[in-house]
Amino acid sequence: MPHAASPRIKVLVVGSGAREHALAWRISESPLVEEVLCAPGNAGTGAVATNVAVEIGDVRGLVALAKERGVGLVVVGPEAPLVAGLVDALDAVGILAFGPSRGAAELEGSKVLAKELMAKYGVPTAGFRVFDDPDAATAYVQKCARPLVVKADGLAAGKGVVVAADAAEAVEAIDAMMRERVYGDAGRRVVIEEVLRGEEVSYHVVSDGTRYVALAAAQDHKRLGDGDLGPNTGGMGAYSPPPVVTPEVERKILARVIEPMLDGLRQEGRTFRGALFAGVMVVDGEPWTLEYNVRFGDPECEALMARFDGDLVPLLLGSARGDLSDITPTFGAGAALCVVLAAAGYPVRVRTGDAIDGLDAVAQAAPGARVFHAGTKRDGDVVRTSGGRVLTVCAAGATLDEAAALAYRAADAIHFDGQQLRRDIGFRARTPKLD
Ligand code: AMP
Ligand code: GLY
Repeated sequence: MPHAASPRIKVLVVGSGAREHALAWRISESPLVEEVLCAPGNAGTGAVATNVAVEIGDVRGLVALAKERGVGLVVVGPEAPLVAGLVDALDAVGILAFGPSRGAAELEGSKVLAKELMAKYGVPTAGFRVFDDPDAATAYVQKCARPLVVKADGLAAGKGVVVAADAAEAVEAIDAMMRERVYGDAGRRVVIEEVLRGEEVSYHVVSDGTRYVALAAAQDHKRLGDGDLGPNTGGMGAYSPPPVVTPEVERKILARVIEPMLDGLRQEGRTFRGALFAGVMVVDGEPWTLEYNVRFGDPECEALMARFDGDLVPLLLGSARGDLSDITPTFGAGAALCVVLAAAGYPVRVRTGDAIDGLDAVAQAAPGARVFHAGTKRDGDVVRTSGGRVLTVCAAGATLDEAAALAYRAADAIHFDGQQLRRDIGFRARTPKLD
């Protein structure tokens, strides 16, 4: 029940993915909250929040919405509105927001800046060079003649990174990014860096500008197919906790990857508030930083929300207000796992409009599992696919095997034509099945 002394607040969640559905769900359960709004949301967020048709790129529209509805906290899901300055615009009218300012969000918005700050503040990361001239970049990769990673500087909806097996593939990536500008201005500059080989993990903390609290570690699965084969995607499933993050590895991540960057950002006048998500390659027990994201990962967030214990809102509010001093997030369930159901053709040529069956059957087939919507749209009584990643099906359990069994039972209750899913999410940590 709400505390008599603290009036309940309205919370606006910005975004339309499964990450935002998971956040809106947790927020809607809080006794501190009167109403949850979601802009623009999807068919799933409609069940836990009021969807409002304002797009994530419409900073003015979002600020106007928050003002009109008397919103007390705005929670920003995706990176684009952060990089566009949504939090600064909300701050200017006195509305609390969870997420970094534009200056801090540039840590994700510019890979060149991220690498330069990593070098300046001693964060372990792959050796790199920056190029703004395609001829010089081409000459460099031809001279190196070894596998290299080519990264567009700016935001490219998660697609601006090519791990090139040889010089020819690197040249192709340089041509696409810098000459053909397939990601627009994001490809004006590129970072070219050494390939790191190890196990990749997603590490999240929430900062209030001074302090931070660590969340549970997670692991995404970026390739489309089982066994980590096939094209890269936005993420096909995630679980928490990944065993590669031992207590010792976690201590190293905090001391070498998280703390120096939060301190560095403060020194740069880019004080960070919100969720900082480091993509870390663990190589022989040592963390190397691939990138920083300035928001929760998707689908990592869904797995973290499934494990999270208690009320999420004090954590979000504490970060936004600059005071996390009394907050210790706890992750109760032993493990959580989520699997993404993707549309036909994803990630290349996505087909939309397929009818989704079985959403109502999940509660009975897999009690306790949760289905978070991403690319879905309501069409009368039918829910249809409307994007590449359609649903994230999530479950918690005492063990990862239990969580996986429940999540897959839920996923198997759902069907749409052309549906794609990986059967092996969490394979590095699950008990292998005997045939
Ligand atoms: P980023 O957006 O920088 O995280 O890159 C996207 C993905 O590319 C990462 O999640 C990794 O899977 C991969 N990647 C990026 N940089 C490297 C690297 N230096 N070595 C190996 N893989 C990388
Ligand atoms: N799951 C990776 C990301 O959100 O960037």
